[in-house]
Amino acid sequence: MRRLDQLLANLGYCSRSAARDWVKAGAVTVRGEEADDFGARVNEVEVLVDGQPLDHPAGLLLLLNKPLGLVCSHEAREGPNVYSLLPERWRRRNPQVTSVGRLDKDTSGLLLLTDLAPLVHRLTSPKHKVPKVYRATVDSDLKTELVARFASGTFLLEGEKEPCAPAELTLLSPREAELTLTEGRFHQVRRMFAESGATVLTLHRVRFGELTVDEVPPGTWRELPLNFFGSVGR
Ligand code: URA
Repeated sequence: MRRLDQLLANLGYCSRSAARDWVKAGAVTVRGEEADDFGARVNEVEVLVDGQPLDHPAGLLLLLNKPLGLVCSHEAREGPNVYSLLPERWRRRNPQVTSVGRLDKDTSGLLLLTDLAPLVHRLTSPKHKVPKVYRATVDSDLKTELVARFASGTFLLEGEKEPCAPAELTLLSPREAELTLTEGRFHQVRRMFAESGATVLTLHRVRFGELTVDEVPPGTWRELPLNFFGSVGR
């Protein structure tokens, strides 16, 4: 149960004071009755605004095919971000919609977005080891011995003391490969290839756990059930 004015504001409808005006103007019903108390604690599934059910009151979980050129940060000074693709109401939600981990500005592909903070923590926790598959093209031929180096569990990135967890490299052609990681260090794919003498030219995440991005056009998303990764609270 949440306060009616707070609920509307948190779901991005309007400010809390505007929500009070909406209630006073008779735009909101609770259990079929026109609401008259904006401070009442309500069950979100029983609330209608202008006759319509609330917009995803229990939370949002989206599989976005991230296009190139957008960042995952909310900081305006970092440039245009992935949230600009979403409807305005979703961009105003509190808790805010955020990415599950990050993809670089120059990386495309599968990115999960959600306003369920516990889910973000669960999916990004090193404990859970969710496999993420990246397809990379590079500027020089990859040697087959790299497969064993990445899989060894002893591969060290510059400036780090902890070796990378074993990673699976599949060579698709001399300059194209798929790399499966179970962790998410800063710029990890680019740094692993750089450490091996190759510069990544293009990078696309094709898979996150069981999910693939194949049927989602770039810049669009599909909704996932909130319990897709098991039950999760707010
Ligand atoms: N590794 C990178 O280098 N960049 C990404 O965006 C994701 C993984």
